[in-house]
Amino acid sequence: SSRQDTKGKANQDMRVLDEPIQLDQDFIQNPHAVYERLRTESPVRPVAMPRGLKAWLVTGYAEARALLADPRLSKDNKRVRELFAVHRGADSAFVSSLAAHLLNMDPPDHTRLRKLVNKAFTVRTVSRLRPRVEQIADELLAAMPEDGRVDLLNAFAFPLPITVICELLGIPTTDRDDFRAWSNTIVSAATPEQLRSHGTALSEYLTKLIAAKRAEPTEDLLSDLVHVSEAGDQLSEVELISMAFLLLVAGHETTVNLIGNSVRALLERPDQLAALRADPSLLPGAVEEFLRFEGPVNIATLRFTTEPVEVGGTVIPADQFVLISLLSANRDGEKFAEPDTLDVTRPAGGHLAFGHGIHYCVGAPLARLEAEIALGKLLDRFDTIELDGEPAGLRWRDSTLMRGLETLPVRLR
Ligand code: HEM
Repeated sequence: SSRQDTKGKANQDMRVLDEPIQLDQDFIQNPHAVYERLRTESPVRPVAMPRGLKAWLVTGYAEARALLADPRLSKDNKRVRELFAVHRGADSAFVSSLAAHLLNMDPPDHTRLRKLVNKAFTVRTVSRLRPRVEQIADELLAAMPEDGRVDLLNAFAFPLPITVICELLGIPTTDRDDFRAWSNTIVSAATPEQLRSHGTALSEYLTKLIAAKRAEPTEDLLSDLVHVSEAGDQLSEVELISMAFLLLVAGHETTVNLIGNSVRALLERPDQLAALRADPSLLPGAVEEFLRFEGPVNIATLRFTTEPVEVGGTVIPADQFVLISLLSANRDGEKFAEPDTLDVTRPAGGHLAFGHGIHYCVGAPLARLEAEIALGKLLDRFDTIELDGEPAGLRWRDSTLMRGLETLPVRLR
């Protein structure tokens, strides 16, 4: 069959190139050194991912930007699953009722679904949330323990965005510890069994919630989407559940890490912290630099080539998985001068932390607002913020998708 031919050819091409590199624990804990070497040697190259997945890893800025917006790269979930089956050993423990979302679709379905949520997240709509986001931040900071010793991720960086996205969607915040566990599993390295059971739990939860909104609509985005799904052929039931899933997971897994990574970067660089304290008007620009320097998304979601694609002098054959490292692209010295230096006064525009092209993050205005308020309020309220323990004790989460710390113990005064 023609699929057999494609498979044979693809494997041959893989072998012609160097041994695929492995992305293991050493890489998770210190990816920047690996990326620097890759960008210099071969910014587009084969790689062996966890769970036996073979793919092409893109680490250069120009190559990443070009491929993110290239219509010859598809995200169609059905074909991704077929390709997974072709890659022997790769296990796709997907839960199909959660998979019919924006990040797994090409136009015209992508265009249709994206239109339904664009309006809820424009800079203007989101700016109306400012007073409420400020209030949530104030309440969380007021609730810090007497001795000032906390895990800042648990006590601040996580509850802020999850509260905001739950309120926006109309999801009871009391259930948030459950989502945290389910959603953690889905973005981290977990066994296929864990992925399946937590995915199913989340899917069942959302199905019940949607039924409740249908019976009794409330003033929130989820009720609006339920209304759209009833009105016609714009949004099917499975697309509705998947949309809720994507917004919930994308709405907090990332922002928690932006806040955490930014605070860590500042604690390790007292000069940058002092600069920001001295001039709070630097904050919006600093958030862009934090996104560039250590953004929360490492290797963005899966795409595949629908035909051979030439990029930066390398040809990626058809039917190959392509993984684009935003973390690496944002440290490319060809784009950013002294890329490994955090400089809160740098004009950091042009970074790829929110992606590029049609899948550019719909929540970017909300994420920027949340990070700016979180960091501003934190610095305002506490004169001294110190790491509680050795810097070497900080560990990165075991995920190639997300770049975030396991915990961030600090002392606030
Ligand atoms: C897409 C990053 C916050 C919702 C994306 C993509 C990236 C990204 C890189 C594109 C992935 C790709 O092309 O494969 C981030 C970062 C955030 C953040 C770094 C925080 C700092 C949010 C928030 C929401 C959100 C708060 C919730 C409203 C989405 C959605 C998509 C998306 C729905 C899919 C868009 C599409 O396919 O058209 N995000 N995100 N994100 N993000 Fe975010």
